[in-house]
Parts: sequence; C-alpha cells; structure tokens
Amino acid sequence: MVRAMARAPIDQSVTLITGASSGIGEAIARQLAPRVRTMVLVARREARLRTLSEELLRANPQLIVIIEPCDISDLTACGAMLDRVERSAGPIDILINNAGIGHMALYEAAPWHELAAMIQLNVVALSYLTRRVIPSMVARRKGGILNISSGFGLEFLPLFAAYVGTKHYVTGLTEGLHVELTDQNIAVTQSCPGPVQTEFSQNLGADNDVQIPSLISLTAAQCAKRSLAAFERGRAMVLPGFLMKFMALSGALSPRWLKRWLYRWAMPTLRARAAKALTPETTS
Ligand SMILES: NC(=O)c1ccc[n+]([C@@H]2O[C@H](COP(=O)([O-])OP(=O)(O)OC[C@H]3O[C@@H](n4cnc5c(N)ncnc54)[C@H](OP(=O)(O)O)[C@@H]3O)[C@@H](O)[C@H]2O)c1
Repeated sequence: MVRAMARAPIDQSVTLITGASSGIGEAIARQLAPRVRTMVLVARREARLRTLSEELLRANPQLIVIIEPCDISDLTACGAMLDRVERSAGPIDILINNAGIGHMALYEAAPWHELAAMIQLNVVALSYLTRRVIPSMVARRKGGILNISSGFGLEFLPLFAAYVGTKHYVTGLTEGLHVELTDQNIAVTQSCPGPVQTEFSQNLGADNDVQIPSLISLTAAQCAKRSLAAFERGRAMVLPGFLMKFMALSGALSPRWLKRWLYRWAMPTLRARAAKALTPETTS
C-alpha cells in the first residue's frame, strides 16, 4: 500500500533554520515562532541573529531561541554546532536548509574559490546536516526537512551554470528523500522559488549589479508562507507564486533544444557583458 504523505510536525517542535540572519530564512523564523517550542537560528552574522531573537522573544514569550553563529560550510564547526544544539535542546524535529548563495559569471572566469565556497554551502553543508538529522527522525518516526532549492533546480541558464548545478543537486536529493522517508512519517519538501526580494542578488560574485524587478518577484514573507504551507501538508515540491508556476509550466512545455538554441543565440552578447564584469583568474 502507498502511504499518504507525511506532514511536517511543526507545533511544539525543535526547529533549526540555516541562513536565519536575512531573507527567506529570517521570514521563515518569524512565521514559525508562534508555533515551535525551540527555535535554533544559524548563520554567520551573530548581531543579526541576536536582533531577530530579541524580536521573536518579545512577540512570543513562550519560545526558546538558541542563537548559533556558525559558518556551516565548515563541516567541523557545523557538526560541533549540531552536537551543542542536540545536547541542550534534544533532537531536531524540523530542519530548514535555507542558507545558500549564488554565483553569476562565465564559468571559465569565475574564481575557483568562490565556486567551491558555493558548492560547499549549497550542496555539501545541506547534505551533511540532512544526513546528520535523519537517523534520529527515523528512530522517532517524526520529523520534517524543508530544503530551499530554486526554480533553477528545474531549469538551466548560462552564466549561472554552477549555481544551477547546485540547485539541481538539491532538487534531486530532496525528491529522492521525499520518497525514501514518507513511510517513516518524515516530511521532505523542496521549495523552488523564482526571484525573491532578499540580499541574494547582492552576493552573486563579481557581477554585482543584478537588479530583480519587484513586479516579478515575491517578498521573503510571501515565499516563506507558501513554502511552509506546502511543507506542512507534506508536499514534495512547491513553486511559490503564480509567476513561478507559469514559468515552470512554460519551461516544462518548451523543448530543451529550443531553450538551448535561444541561449546560444544570446550568448555572444552575454559573454561580452560578463567578460567586462569579471577578471579572469587561474583555477587553483
Ligand atoms: N532570493 C532569490 O531570488 C532566491 C530565488 C531562489 C532560491 N533562493 C534560495 O533561497 C535561499 C535563501 O536565500 P535568500 O534569498 O534569503 O538570500 P539572503 O538574504 O542572502 O540569505 C542567505 C542566508 O544564508 C546565510 N549564509 C550564507 N553563507 C552561509 C554560511 N557559510 N554559513 C551559514 N549561513 C550562511 C546568510 O547569513 P550570513 O551571511 O549571516 O551567514 C543568510 O542568512 C538560498 O538557498 C537561495 O539559493 C533565493
């Protein structure tokens, strides 16, 4: 018999959110705060986490907040952080893998250390945290993992090739785990947003002048709300917002050869623009 989808056990949970110092992660923290018992806020900027924690505690006096300033791409530090949290708060019920960065450049010219840092965060840290929390979720037959992937987890785009690659990994991993873990009563959901108004576009490597028109983007709060609603229902995937659903549908209906052809046609212009923005660097 095929088991019904598992629902994310949000109420009174121990919830850990990576990338809680800004954007979608911060919005998720605000929206979950009235419901969870213990919230663990993880990111590198401690002052931001402290400010958020004070705000959450003012609005939700019953909440326990643990601030964990941590560069999760350092797996030793990340593992030690998780050990500390589990010792003080108990096992993680809900893991929200949200921390992520982008990189926009010609692949050949992108500094290797920037690409490696992105892969380490978007792929390796996310995989490590997920691998660490699942065994105790399985033992307790209770848990939920929400991975913030991207609409690019389903598509491809020149100048964004490595970022798109990291999100394809998140999409593949999440959908596989959704299937593996449903009968263990663990909800595994991925959110695949299109453009969201956050600090993301300010941190895209050397080409930092990317402006996302607000008309076609969601706010972080809208993205968080739609992602959490799908997670709570145990959906495998959510495409937050009408525009994203429309783009995903038209993307799925357009043959990949046509998209490749269009991008190839645009490539000389894109290459000239990108070459201006990036200084080539040897890989090392
Ligand atoms: N905004 C968009 O248009 C968009 C679209 C699709 C998908 N997404 C995805 O949404 C997720 C959240 O991004 P966002 O849009 O909210 O961007 P954001 O505002 O830049 O937030 C990124 C978060 O990740 C944290 N972070 C970065 N490096 C980290 C590290 N090494 N260790 C721990 N935390 C780290 C940052 O905190 P610190 O700097 O304090 O560490 C920050 O809290 C990402 O996975 C992104 O790929 C975004």
